[in-house]
Amino acid sequence: MIKQDDPLWYKDAVFYEVYVRAFHDSNADGHGDLPGLTAKLDYIQNLGFDCIWLLPIYPSPLKDDGYDIADYYNIHPDYGTLEDFEILTKEAHQRGIRIIADLVLNHTSNQHPWFQSARKSRSSKYRDYYVWSDTNRKYKDARIIFIDTETSNWTWDDTAGQYYWHRFYSSQPDLNFNNPAVQEEMFNVMKFWLDLGIDGFRVDAVPYLFEREGTICENLPETHDYLKRLRKFIDTNYPGRVLLCEANQWPEDVRPYFGDGDEFHIGFHFPIMPRIFMAIRKSDISDVKNIMARTPEIPSNCQWCTFLRNHDELTLEMVTEEERQWMWQEYAPESRMRLNLGIRRRLAPLLDGDQRKIELANSILFSLIGTPIIYYGDEIGMGDNIWLEDRAGVRTPMQWENSPDVGFSHADPKKFYLPVINDPIFGYEHINVKDQQNCPSSLLNQIKKMIAVHKAYRAFGRGDFSWVDVDNDAIAAYYRTYQDEKILVIQNLSATSQAIAFPLDTIHQPIDILNQKKLHLTNKPPFSLNLAGYEYLWLKI
Ligand code: BGC
Repeated sequence: MIKQDDPLWYKDAVFYEVYVRAFHDSNADGHGDLPGLTAKLDYIQNLGFDCIWLLPIYPSPLKDDGYDIADYYNIHPDYGTLEDFEILTKEAHQRGIRIIADLVLNHTSNQHPWFQSARKSRSSKYRDYYVWSDTNRKYKDARIIFIDTETSNWTWDDTAGQYYWHRFYSSQPDLNFNNPAVQEEMFNVMKFWLDLGIDGFRVDAVPYLFEREGTICENLPETHDYLKRLRKFIDTNYPGRVLLCEANQWPEDVRPYFGDGDEFHIGFHFPIMPRIFMAIRKSDISDVKNIMARTPEIPSNCQWCTFLRNHDELTLEMVTEEERQWMWQEYAPESRMRLNLGIRRRLAPLLDGDQRKIELANSILFSLIGTPIIYYGDEIGMGDNIWLEDRAGVRTPMQWENSPDVGFSHADPKKFYLPVINDPIFGYEHINVKDQQNCPSSLLNQIKKMIAVHKAYRAFGRGDFSWVDVDNDAIAAYYRTYQDEKILVIQNLSATSQAIAFPLDTIHQPIDILNQKKLHLTNKPPFSLNLAGYEYLWLKI
């Protein structure tokens, strides 16, 4: 059962992001579903994950893969029923795993009955649920997010006879948070899922809830006031459940989303992510150091959440223009790899399918700061398919086995919601769960080890962080310390071996905690250490 005794459980946890449609299909219709996920909970438990984040599971016309919700109170028929959801939650809890799901506050689908009613009549009680205007010239300073598709945040609606406001696809009209009725609706939505047993929400696209003329319509004080009310609701009625903030912003702009420990429990740290990729490509940790220096302290009951990849394009919003061009040139040399301000590729192909680099990136993820999230499939190094539409290329069926149906479904693979990855490097013959489970040195088993060790030492989730100066930018070395735990992480970002010197008191009887053995220091103090290309060490001092 999940342990209820620690309200700060999320600080030491490891999260797993699951796209239900991609994970496992229980009824042979070619679409993954909730019973399919339930059937695979042992896998998730065995890897050591504490919490699953489900991408949207609600009825939706799927113009944005479910982030366009048509009914907040039900399950998409492809995925099953509310009862299936309750079973999933119960079974997960029995295995000590929590479940959170997306809460999409900012917008609905244009197929939502609220919008359908709103557009038909100015006197509908739902008209004021959305943001309407006679002109498309308001809120000009708000940027467009899906720049490859949308040319404006306003779209004309013939039936309504007005423009409506949307920060994402035009099929996703923004809700009007000035309207107290909209604010209340979302409390009801939360209550519904919390009563069903959900452990919290990944709250989607929070910066954009309110619009104000003369601002960029992001991170407004009204937004924080409202979010604090959501938190209060949770704390009062559902203590122990969590809110995870999706604000793709600079660290100083995410900081207010933690409030005084009274807004979000956890918040994604977006800007660290591309800098890990920069560091590995440049064999130089400086960019990560700079963003860490720019990362403010957060209240003690809050936590950063870090990731390498997720279901979206690898976003390059939180980098300079020059850095973005560099990232595109290095990691998305073909134009088809680029999408909006990002890169539609998965972790393994980005890192050349090189297990040493993929492990290194994960070593940084698991040891740097915060609570790590792994995107389904990245634990085995799944590939992508850049030729699929939008972000579908990073949402293909989970590769369980070496067979044409990849153990995902009993349906004819031609009926799968998306084709499985079948290229010479990342195809299921080479990349699948079963083979990696049977191979001790596989990526899957290395990640499993990192999860276990991350969880065994509170220093990783709760400890202080300090860099160790080794006078070599190709080496990322830092301490994580918590009470009497002191862990030294040393990672070689370059392909070539690097020798580094450590003062005696720094390395005293170190234990390599990933491999459970004493580090063999051959020479006399001051000790020097030789790290092979892309080698990483987590040492307990
Ligand atoms: C989600 C995207 C989605 C967008 C609009 C983002 O935060 O991660 O997948 O398209 O919100 O809902």
